Amino acid sequence: MSAHIQDQIDRRRTFAIISHPDAGKTTLTEKFLLFGGAIQTAGAVKNNKITKSAASDFMEIERQRGISVATSVMAFHYRDILINLLDTPGHRDFAEDTYRTLTAVDSVILVIDCVKGVEPQTERLMEVCRMRNTPVIVFINKMDLEGRDPTDLLDEVEAKLNIQVRPLSWPISQGHTFQGVYNLYNKSLRLFQADKTKVAKEVVAIDSLDDEDLDGLVGEHADTLREDVELIEGVYDAWDPQPYLEGKLAPVFFGSAVNNFGVQEMLDTFVDIAPNPKPRETSSRMVAPDESKFTGFIFKIHANIDPKHRDRIAFLRVCSGSFQRNTFYQHTRISKKLKFANPAAFLAQEKSVVEEAWPGDVVGLYDTGNFKIGDTLTEGEELQFRGIPSFSPEIFKELVNKDPMKSKQLEKGIQQLTDEGVAQLFIREAGNRKIVGTVGELQFEVIQYRLEHEYGAKCEFQPKPYSKACWIESDHEEKLAEFRRIKAQDIVHDKDGLEVYLAPSEFMLQMEIQNFPEITFHFTSEFKTAQEDAN
Ligand code: G4P
Repeated sequence: MSAHIQDQIDRRRTFAIISHPDAGKTTLTEKFLLFGGAIQTAGAVKNNKITKSAASDFMEIERQRGISVATSVMAFHYRDILINLLDTPGHRDFAEDTYRTLTAVDSVILVIDCVKGVEPQTERLMEVCRMRNTPVIVFINKMDLEGRDPTDLLDEVEAKLNIQVRPLSWPISQGHTFQGVYNLYNKSLRLFQADKTKVAKEVVAIDSLDDEDLDGLVGEHADTLREDVELIEGVYDAWDPQPYLEGKLAPVFFGSAVNNFGVQEMLDTFVDIAPNPKPRETSSRMVAPDESKFTGFIFKIHANIDPKHRDRIAFLRVCSGSFQRNTFYQHTRISKKLKFANPAAFLAQEKSVVEEAWPGDVVGLYDTGNFKIGDTLTEGEELQFRGIPSFSPEIFKELVNKDPMKSKQLEKGIQQLTDEGVAQLFIREAGNRKIVGTVGELQFEVIQYRLEHEYGAKCEFQPKPYSKACWIESDHEEKLAEFRRIKAQDIVHDKDGLEVYLAPSEFMLQMEIQNFPEITFHFTSEFKTAQEDAN
């Protein structure tokens, strides 16, 4: 068993592509699928972008896409590796979904637009990667456009994303004089050809940069390339995958996704260096992927928005052992045994029933309401995977029932929608008030629409003047009691019953942090270490 499982683990790479909208995530995804043989022509991947900011559009897009489940996970083979590419929504309002998906991957590729440089959403996504030390490869895209100077871009990545960089390829000019990239990893040259459909293959072998052929190939840019490479090799340490695997250093590639240029270099290097599934932390111990017993956790729940079939698909990341169809597993939060007759896998964009799955794989489980994000399945052991926290929302509104006859439906609906992770629900005990927190306005429209169409409940949202949620704890009972008394209006409980302070502004929050040094204000819902939990 264990040799077999190790072989399965070694063959897997589970990752996500992240970017600020429009940097080229969809285009790059498509090129990867082309290389993996999962699609045959460019243009086959539907753009999952939600461009308009209205719930009805969102719903329409969901419907048109049939079910976006099909593109939630794209598994494909490349060389002898099985790559699980997890899709993340591009729309900013769905950022929380992206954060959650990042808990289920082993590494990420970050796409940056060379014209725009590091954009705000890139910074936030990177912060989430840093929390788990997720290894990151950077792809600087759109080199066919007149972008920023590559050295400046690297400096900006280091400064804004707070990570060391190491270029593994280097562009030869850019914009309309873009000649190609020199691969610093295997010392080969690839000349640029604008080609939006084919997979570019030509690699020019040159023995050394001193080769006179180089002048013939890239003309006046040859000397600049020689100087650049000399400088890079002088400034940066020799390439070493270890700091990359520790999440401290990001290798950087340059290219043009739409022209399929520089993509294969990166994919090849990715397959070589990206981590396979690693041990993961739980409430009681570390779980290693090669353990014979199955474990996994739910990181995403996708609702079927057809009111006639209110089933959902819960996405399970396998962490250890092998997941088998029609086998009973323990749902540890509710202590219930569940088995799954039709677990789905997503190979080559096809959804099909899967018999077994291995660490790193993602399986879609039909769910009638048993799961919420972060739930763990095991073969019986009582443990709970960690590292799937909630982050502070940015917009807070109170949910107001508009149809007293339907309060039960509203209650159930909001509970289920927040279990799915559409938004976070906070309850203020006095008066059982429900405050819904999201990262974007769009979610409120989605909730309102879905409550009405799926649950028959009518609601309204009243804006609340909060800007941040902090999870609070203290050993100092007296001080905590005092804080609760003073801030009674702003103290709520999250879905797990944890105590949360809703701060009206960053300024107020800083004041409270100063005034109550005995209280710890946490910025994510997960702050106890496994050790503390065990005690
Ligand atoms: P996203 O998923 O990150 O939001 O970005 P997406 O891939 O949709 O790319 C955004 C736009 O950038 C697209 O143009 C795409 O064609 C373009 N693009 C991607 N890579 C490159 C590149 O290397 N060079 C250049 N010049 N453009 C690139 P669009 O006009 O919005 O859409 P489309 O009509 O071309 O599909």
